Amino acid sequence: MEKFEMEKGIELVRGSVVEMEADAIVNAANRSLLGGGGVDGAIHRAAGPQLLAECRTLNGCETGDAKITKAYNITNAKFIIHTVGPVYGGTPKDAVLLASCYQKSLDLALENGCRSIAFPGISTGVYGYPLDEAAEVSLKAVSEWQAAHRDAGMQVYFCCFKDREMQAYKDCKH
Ligand code: AR6
Repeated sequence: MEKFEMEKGIELVRGSVVEMEADAIVNAANRSLLGGGGVDGAIHRAAGPQLLAECRTLNGCETGDAKITKAYNITNAKFIIHTVGPVYGGTPKDAVLLASCYQKSLDLALENGCRSIAFPGISTGVYGYPLDEAAEVSLKAVSEWQAAHRDAGMQVYFCCFKDREMQAYKDCKH
């Protein structure tokens, strides 16, 4: 897999988050947490029906928040962190909620003893967040979290499913 270090503890990786070797992989879910299309569908297919059974016990998730489950048949990860990105509306609230998705996911990973976490581009598919804007917000959010948690030794991967995603991160000027 193509890899590119953005800064210490933050790497870009070309590929699907479903296949990443990491303590936690992140799902771009919806508020029901009961599955959907895009990466959500791919994660549920790969993890198997036990994932849906655990998700049913979680009573959904608010936009900007995150919840954790086991990874079941996805053996390259220990946990799946389900976060719900904003549906892009073009208002300042979008960035606040998107940054919150990354930071809440990182908090949960740390609380559960993870040292590595792999993210897809939350909200950049069906939810319509423009890639360039999302890359800026995501990178800033993770970078700030890393600066505030240097002792955690967390390795963060941004998984780029499409070439355009990788370029969007590389073009960031934060
Ligand atoms: N494997 C890996 N990554 C993928 C895949 C896949 N099969 N498909 C898309 N991506 P999206 P969102 C990447 O649309 O915008 C679902 O129905 C894609 O390139 O999955 O947050 C949920 O249930 C992008 O980088 O999520 C929600 O209803 C990233 O995954 C809604 O979509 C996110 O694209 C969430 O929309």
